[in-house]
Amino acid sequence: MAANVYVMLLFISSVLFVCIQSFQATSDVKCSLRSVSFEHKVCVCNSSYCDTTPTVEPVPKGQYIVFTTSRNGLRLDKKVLKAVNVSKSAVFKIDTKTRRQKIIGFGGAFTDAAGINIASLPSDAQKKLISSYFAKDGIEYTVGRVPMASCDFSTHPYSYDDVAGDLTLSKFALAPEDLKYKIPFIQQAKTLSPNPIRMFASPWSAPAWMKTNDNMTGKGSLIGEPGGQYYKAWALYYVKFLQFYQQHNISFWGLTTQNEPIDGLQQNFPFQALGFTPETQRDFVKLDLGPALHTAGFGNVSLMMLDDQRLLILDWTKVVLSDPEASQYLSGVAVHWYSDFLVPSDVLTKTHTNFPDKFIFASEACEGSMPWQKHVELGSWERAASYTKDIITDLNNWVTGWTDWNIALDMTGGPNWVSNFVDSPIIVNAEKKEFYKQPMFYALGHFSKFLRPGSVWVKVESSESIPGIEITAFYRPDNSLAVVIHNLGIDTVELTLTDDGSAFYPVTSPGYSIQTVLWW
Ligand SMILES: *[C@@H]1O[C@H](CO)[C@@H](O)[C@H](O)[C@H]1NC(C)=O
Ligand SMILES: *[C@@H]1O[C@H](CO)[C@@H](O)[C@H](O)[C@H]1NC(C)=O
Ligand SMILES: *[C@@H]1O[C@H](CO)[C@@H](O)[C@H](O)[C@H]1NC(C)=O
Ligand SMILES: *[C@@H]1O[C@H](CO)[C@@H](O)[C@H](O)[C@H]1NC(C)=O
Ligand SMILES: *[C@@H]1O[C@H](CO)[C@@H](O)[C@H](O)[C@H]1NC(C)=O
Repeated sequence: MAANVYVMLLFISSVLFVCIQSFQATSDVKCSLRSVSFEHKVCVCNSSYCDTTPTVEPVPKGQYIVFTTSRNGLRLDKKVLKAVNVSKSAVFKIDTKTRRQKIIGFGGAFTDAAGINIASLPSDAQKKLISSYFAKDGIEYTVGRVPMASCDFSTHPYSYDDVAGDLTLSKFALAPEDLKYKIPFIQQAKTLSPNPIRMFASPWSAPAWMKTNDNMTGKGSLIGEPGGQYYKAWALYYVKFLQFYQQHNISFWGLTTQNEPIDGLQQNFPFQALGFTPETQRDFVKLDLGPALHTAGFGNVSLMMLDDQRLLILDWTKVVLSDPEASQYLSGVAVHWYSDFLVPSDVLTKTHTNFPDKFIFASEACEGSMPWQKHVELGSWERAASYTKDIITDLNNWVTGWTDWNIALDMTGGPNWVSNFVDSPIIVNAEKKEFYKQPMFYALGHFSKFLRPGSVWVKVESSESIPGIEITAFYRPDNSLAVVIHNLGIDTVELTLTDDGSAFYPVTSPGYSIQTVLWW
C-alpha cells in the first residue's frame, strides 16, 4: 500500500514534471508576424512584446531537433523528432572524421547609427532588442565589431584627436558617441549575454592632420613612410583606443589593421577612409602597429589584416603574410562580402592553403548597398537567402565566423552622414516605438545560435546531388552535430541525415527555408 502510494506519488510528480517542462517549452514567445507585402514578413517587437528563440537542450539518442525558418512565416520553429532506422530519401552522411576549421563566432557591429536607433526606443524595447541578439533566449551572438571613432554610419566625421600635430596623442579622448551610443549598449550586451563576447575594432580614418590630404574623406594616406612619425602616432592611436575602452571594462579580442584600405586610394572617396597598399600595410604592421601593441601589453589581441573585399585576398595575403616579420603579428585575415558575387569562394580555400596558420574571418556584410537595390526592404526573404548562401559558402571554404554590419538601422537605413543607406536584420521605427526583426535576423540565428564558438567543420557527403540545397555541418563542443540546410527552391525536399549510419534523421525541407538540425 505504502509502496503503491509511493509509486503513485512518483507518477504524479513525473506528470507534474512533464507539465512543467511543456509549460517551459511553450513559454517561448512566438513571433508577432506582420505581412508587409506578398511574401514579405517581419516579426514586430515593442516594449512589452518580443519573440524569443527556444533554448537548445540536449535530447536523448534516437531523437533530434529541427529548427525551421521559412518564407511562409516559420521563425526558428523548434520540433523534437524521433530517428528512424531506414532512409527513405537522399542521404547526407556527416563524416565526423574529416574536420577543418573551428568557429570563432557570429555577430554584428555597434556603430553610432545602431546606437542612435537603439537609444530612440523606450528602454524596455532597447533591452528586448539587445536580448534578441545576445541573450540566452536570443540568437546568442558572440562577436561585436566597433568602429574606432566615426565612419559613414555616424552623423558627422570626427576622430579621437583632432589637435593638429599632437603626435604623442596627449589630447586623445573618446567621443560623445562612444559614451552615449556604443559603450552603454556593449555593456548591456555583455550583461545580457551568457557567453563571453569577442569584441573587435576597426578604424576608418586617421585624424585629418595625420594624412596627405588633410581630410578624413577622399584619397589620402598617412604622411611619410612606415616607421615614420605619423605611422608611429597612428599605431599609438590603436593602443589608446584599447586603453580608453578598457577603462569602461570593455576589452577587445581583436583588431583589424584598417577598414577597407583600398577606399582611401580612390579619388573623391565619399566617406572616412585611409589608403594602404599591401606593401604599406605590411610595413605598418611590421614596423609600427605590431610592435606598439606588444609594447603596450596588447600582444594577445588578434590582429587581422585586409578587412576588405574577397577580390583582394590572394594578392594581399601573398604580400603581407609572406613577410615573416609582419606575419608574426597577424592572427588572421578579415574579409568583406561586397564582391562575393563576382569572385569564386575558392580564393578563400586557396588563402587557407597558402597560409594555414592564419584564420579567415568575415568581418562585414549587409544587404541594400548596391546602387540598384532598395536600401531597406522590410520582410525580404531574398535577403535572408542571400545571407544564408554567403555564410554556408564561406563556412565550406575555411571561414571561421561571420560579422554582420549595423545591428540596427532606421526606416531609411541610416543615419549615415553621406546617405550611404543600407539594410539591417533589425529596423527600428522610433515613431511607433517598435522594431522589426527581418528574415535576415533569423537566417543569422540559424548559425549564431547553434554553431557555438569552438564548433568544428565536418564533411557532408551526399548520395545524390539535390539542386537548390546548400548544406554545412559542424561538430559542437557538447559532442552534438549541427547541420544547417538551405532550400533555395520553391519545392519541398525530403532528405535524410546520418553520421555513422546507425540512425537516420529524416528532414522535410520546405521550399524557401533554412533549417538547423541537431542530434547528440
Ligand atoms: C506590442 O506588441 C504586441 C504584439 O504584437 C501587441 O499585442 C501590443 O498591443 C503592442 N503594444 C504596444 C504598446 O504597442
Ligand atoms: C529498427 O529496426 C529493427 C529491426 O527491424 C526494429 O526491431 C526496431 O524497432 C527498429 N528501431 C526503430 C527505432 O525503429
Ligand atoms: C574634405 O573633403 C570634402 C570633399 O572634398 C570637402 O567637402 C570638405 O570640406 C573637406 N574637409 C576639410 C576639413 O577640408
Ligand atoms: C569595471 O569593473 C570593476 C570591477 O568589476 C568595477 O569596480 C568598475 O566600477 C567598473 N567600471 C566601469 C566604468 O564600469
Ligand atoms: C590579454 O591579456 C590581458 C592581460 O593579461 C588580459 O586582461 C586580456 O583579457 C587578454 N586578452 C585576450 C584577448 O586574451
